[in-house]
Amino acid sequence: MIDRRTFLNGCVALAAAGNLPAPARGATGVARLTARPTRVRLAPSPYPKTEVWGYDGAMPGPELRMAQGARVQRSFLNELPQASSVHWHGIRIDNAMDGVPGLTQPAVEPGQEFDYDFVAPDAGTYWYHAHNRSTEQVARGLYGALIVEESEAPDIDREEVLILDDWLLDPETAQIDPDFTSRHDRSHAGRRGNFIATNGRFDLSLDVKQNERLRLRLINAANARIFVLTLSGMDGWTVALDGMPLPDPGPVTEVLILGPGQRADLIVDVTAAPGEAAHLVRIEDQVGVSQVAFPVSGRAAAARRGSPLPLPPNPRMDISGMEKAVTARLNMQGGAMGTLDTAILDGERKSFRQLVDANQFWAFNGTIGMTDTPLANLSVGETLKLEIYNDTSFPHAMHLHGMHFREVTGDAGLGPFRDTLLMFGGETRTIAFVADNPGKWLFHCHMLSHADSGMMTWLEVA
Ligand code: C2O
Ligand code: CU
Repeated sequence: MIDRRTFLNGCVALAAAGNLPAPARGATGVARLTARPTRVRLAPSPYPKTEVWGYDGAMPGPELRMAQGARVQRSFLNELPQASSVHWHGIRIDNAMDGVPGLTQPAVEPGQEFDYDFVAPDAGTYWYHAHNRSTEQVARGLYGALIVEESEAPDIDREEVLILDDWLLDPETAQIDPDFTSRHDRSHAGRRGNFIATNGRFDLSLDVKQNERLRLRLINAANARIFVLTLSGMDGWTVALDGMPLPDPGPVTEVLILGPGQRADLIVDVTAAPGEAAHLVRIEDQVGVSQVAFPVSGRAAAARRGSPLPLPPNPRMDISGMEKAVTARLNMQGGAMGTLDTAILDGERKSFRQLVDANQFWAFNGTIGMTDTPLANLSVGETLKLEIYNDTSFPHAMHLHGMHFREVTGDAGLGPFRDTLLMFGGETRTIAFVADNPGKWLFHCHMLSHADSGMMTWLEVA
């Protein structure tokens, strides 16, 4: 029987359900983004939940989605036990909003707030993440997707944002390994996890229909893991890399390699039959394992479509002035099995032994970490051609803030626009970009333990 009291309670519950909670607002009335510890279920029970750090109590943080050219405003509130900041990875942003403590803003202390306010000029798949003590803060879960929508949506049935990460968990307790300064990780391949997840789930499964066309937005948020991916039960095309549309989308035939920080947008058609499953497959030690399962139930009403059209290009994307480009060179040195006998640290030449004691292992052009002098001083509009030599035994994912570059390929052609370049040991690669965004821009390895132990420099555009 529904008495008056039950009825009234029901009404209250309904009213509450029908009323979306107003977003929290900061002191300036702007919607907040709060970093704080939270607990999520990473490992299956009977493991306990894992203590992570997230934004707005979620890990990954809330998906921020906006129209191309829209203004983004977030008042970042730090409720962590240490200083933090937010970097909007891949956005050609106003330098003051880039979120790099010591270079573009002071770190936001616990209890403090910082107003981020910028315009997102390019459509595509981006992400945001903590940029202070990043090895620790990103490993603890401080990241989320930042999606900028094209004004004309591509012809797809639906889309899924897939954030790939690995976690280094204590196998007994499923809690995050708190040794973020491990000498071994720093001097080798970086902090690699023992527990792999997508959107915080090890068993992510998304129901699909045969012939359904999906856009998969893949983001590698791992500290150091390189994801080698392929598709099964789906035909796919790569339509964008690091947010930027490819003029000529190519089929995913072999593998797709995503270094830390990199993104890829795929358009995929489900070919697996009802009752079967398609998979995003991760290849590890030459074995394919399911990263995300797509069980197929039923058939989509529409028939299969042909190859997808390219996404609309983003504005002011071209590289001119290559003939009169300024050139610079970056030698990456150090690490285990490397040849770094001595390097400059804090303005002084240090022996290998002293560097090990300082837990610093990597150098750019003989110097470890940030200095007062940028790698290059560029005038606005100048084109830089940067030759990078990876004289180490490890891969590195070099990320440029604030601008996208293209790789200069052997035949004087130019590769796709990217913001992160994955380089394997011994490789020499050349990138070029137009320095059209004024400010101080970081250029660092996105294997975050490497960035922390030397692989960090910057460029000035003025
Ligand atoms: Cu995604 Cu400097 O970082
Ligand atoms: Cu590196």
